[in-house]
Amino acid sequence: MKYKELANTGEKLSVIGLGCMGMSAAYGTADDVESVATLNYALDLGINFWDTADIYGNGTNEELISKVLVPNRDKIFIATKFGFRIRGNGDVFVGGETYVDASPKWMKEAVEKSLKRLKIETIDLYYAHRVDPNVPIEETVGAMSELVKEGKVRYLGLSEATPDDLKRACAVHPIAALQSEYSLLTRDVEKEILPLTKALGITFVPFSPLSRGLITNKLDVSSLTSNDFRANLPRYQGEHLDNNQKLTAAFAEYAESKSCTPAQLAIAWVMAQSDNIIPIPGTKRRKYLEENAGAVEVTLTAKDLENIEAIVRMFPNIGPRYSARENKFVKK
Ligand SMILES: NC(=O)c1ccc[n+]([C@@H]2O[C@H](COP(=O)([O-])OP(=O)(O)OC[C@H]3O[C@@H](n4cnc5c(N)ncnc54)[C@H](OP(=O)(O)O)[C@@H]3O)[C@@H](O)[C@H]2O)c1
Repeated sequence: MKYKELANTGEKLSVIGLGCMGMSAAYGTADDVESVATLNYALDLGINFWDTADIYGNGTNEELISKVLVPNRDKIFIATKFGFRIRGNGDVFVGGETYVDASPKWMKEAVEKSLKRLKIETIDLYYAHRVDPNVPIEETVGAMSELVKEGKVRYLGLSEATPDDLKRACAVHPIAALQSEYSLLTRDVEKEILPLTKALGITFVPFSPLSRGLITNKLDVSSLTSNDFRANLPRYQGEHLDNNQKLTAAFAEYAESKSCTPAQLAIAWVMAQSDNIIPIPGTKRRKYLEENAGAVEVTLTAKDLENIEAIVRMFPNIGPRYSARENKFVKK
């Protein structure tokens, strides 16, 4: 593994992190035994930047991670998030009545719950999962900065923030990381957000860098179960799915010509976009984890980047990343 500094904090994070969400939520059935083996294998591979959130599996993802985190606390840089809530019972991804609450009042409760589930005293990186349209960002980040003073949190992050919110947040307290969706198929951040993070010295953490598995060309969309979040997303249906299967097949062919897998090529592509990027591909399997770590060895030339763009341009009907349900949580 290679390492990169988180913002200008002096913290050395693996250049490829690990997204843990799918171990307990969003992508079908959980397998805790394989997930724990995957977390341990991440340690062996030197992958020290792990990503979770309080809402993944309604807290069960943080509990699962604690099994490997606690005995290896000094080897792992743990990031978690607060800000999504559910009314009544249900799941944040499928069927639950989800809403954003990034108020100081909820944050104070949420952080205690995360610390308890993770069984640690300090969270390394604490994100607001979404900007709350009803709470000024200054109030959210102001309250988060109190957690730093109290020693409950070390660094602060935001997810899916607008450029304006990010700038206002930085005026209150240093923001170490911005986590937003970025992959070959989701390019919204390229125009403003990515250059802004670079200018502000903030690490950009792309989530879903494998387009939730689609770009790997291995995802059998017809087999997605009803508890799989992707089954309801536009890109996995109808005309968009047709387009995307052609796109990912062409991308896979290009990966073969580079003697790597499509997943490795997709991760290498994201990393090649800016030097302040640390992607967090998600997996619950040792096999994929090892494969994804191999992206560190993939070097892309300017010609490769051009050829990859040409493939994406050939199949433009990719479809929106979210349905209306998820889109309403992203502040425009
Ligand atoms: N801030 C936010 O709002 C937000 C939103 C979404 C995600 N996230 C974070 O970002 C992390 C990564 O995003 P993600 O998990 O949504 O999407 P992703 O990393 O783009 O893709 C994950 C999917 O790809 C599959 N996969 C992984 N490596 C593979 C390989 N080498 N070959 C074939 N398939 C492979 C996984 O399969 P298996 O599950 O079978 O291993 C999983 O279904 C999450 O785990 C979470 O921590 C944050």
